Amino acid sequence: MYTTWVLGFPSGNEQGSYLTIDLGGSNLRVCWITLNGRDPESSKHDINLAQHKYEIKDDMKTGEASELWKFIAVSLQKFIQDHDLNGKAQEPLRLGFTFSYPAIQDYIDQGVLQTWTKGFDIKNVEGKDVASQLREAMKRLELPVELIAVINDTTGAMIASAYNDPDTVIGAIFGTGCNAAYMDKISNIPKLSNNEQTQSLDPETPMAINCEYGAFDNSRTVLPVTKYDSTIDEDSPRPGEQAFEKLSAGLYLGEIYRLILLDLNSNKILLKNHNLKDNKKFSEPYCIDTALLSSLEDDTSSSLSESARALEEKFDIVLSEEELLLSQLIAHLIAIRGARLCACGIAAICRHQNITKGHVAADGSVANKHPRFKRRWARALGEILDWEENDWSKDEDDQNVGPIMLTSAEDGSGIGAAVIAAMTIERWEKGQRAGILGRNEK
Ligand code: BGC
Repeated sequence: MYTTWVLGFPSGNEQGSYLTIDLGGSNLRVCWITLNGRDPESSKHDINLAQHKYEIKDDMKTGEASELWKFIAVSLQKFIQDHDLNGKAQEPLRLGFTFSYPAIQDYIDQGVLQTWTKGFDIKNVEGKDVASQLREAMKRLELPVELIAVINDTTGAMIASAYNDPDTVIGAIFGTGCNAAYMDKISNIPKLSNNEQTQSLDPETPMAINCEYGAFDNSRTVLPVTKYDSTIDEDSPRPGEQAFEKLSAGLYLGEIYRLILLDLNSNKILLKNHNLKDNKKFSEPYCIDTALLSSLEDDTSSSLSESARALEEKFDIVLSEEELLLSQLIAHLIAIRGARLCACGIAAICRHQNITKGHVAADGSVANKHPRFKRRWARALGEILDWEENDWSKDEDDQNVGPIMLTSAEDGSGIGAAVIAAMTIERWEKGQRAGILGRNEK
């Protein structure tokens, strides 16, 4: 449970131009965003956004910190040149940095990485302030950029969505990783009870909390796990970390499926005449993505011929119809467990905060691309929170209709980061500087 120093929801009046960067799984996304305020006629926000994605090579994910920060600074430099931002806009250009890993924030413009997650394993960043590492790299290239805020993707999703939808109560990511953020008042946050910076603030002031619940049950005392879960953990770059995430997030679902098939094969239950361990393509860890699992689940072709073709094309595996049915069932089980666990995380927040209605603004590949996820998630949430059956089970279009609804989050790492940068600058300018390291001190 990490403090973020994002103090409350946006007013909706935030304006200005901002650079944003998002260090995601396979790309660095850079945006130039202008918040123009509300359009008086439609009362919707008028926003301009230009973006570019720069590929993060696999070897960088396990390389040295200096390489990572240099790559980010060089990409920013290129973006500024390509979009002709130098000298044209207000200088320095104001930057919101979405850094979607567990980082302790004593200030909004600082973040000490606790542990890499989602397969990243870059040396010399854990235990360090990512904001100062980025600042140094930007300084080396003399970039006219000032880092205003470091944010988590969940906080970004919540704020970007609340900017347009006042019913938003939680921001969540169900993607490569899993996590959520919500608002609580400062007086409820034990970590801040002796914090000097909050002395100037009304105890009722809301602050976004980044739950980092992907790390729930790292002690492995609560949730039942299978031997496949244990293998995933042991073979990961950080065994023992992100226990909950490894059971439910997109990065791991395909790998759980692969390990189960390998096991069934070595026990001669599946593909008796084929040794899957000798299959070069299939023995590659993490070779199966969530998209394959969802297409397997949704295959309505006769005799599951589409899945049969996909598995043969990708892995040279020829399954009988019975074997295909078995593997479809396995895909179902893995996805159902994942969706129900995702609901547990949100249910925990709702119970803790007494939230009985509102929107959970969610982003991520599992939420957006898995066709049955929303339905399963809503069903599980309804069970946990004891919703009346009629509240949530009558949908005909596979949509969730409960009092707490999953909505598609607005662009958290772009618009969310820009809105948070705007909120932070506004606070600074008004002299409300709690949790902002700020320009002078850096
Ligand atoms: C990270 C979180 C992030 C989540 C979703 C997890 O691995 O620890 O910070 O919000 O992934 O991207």
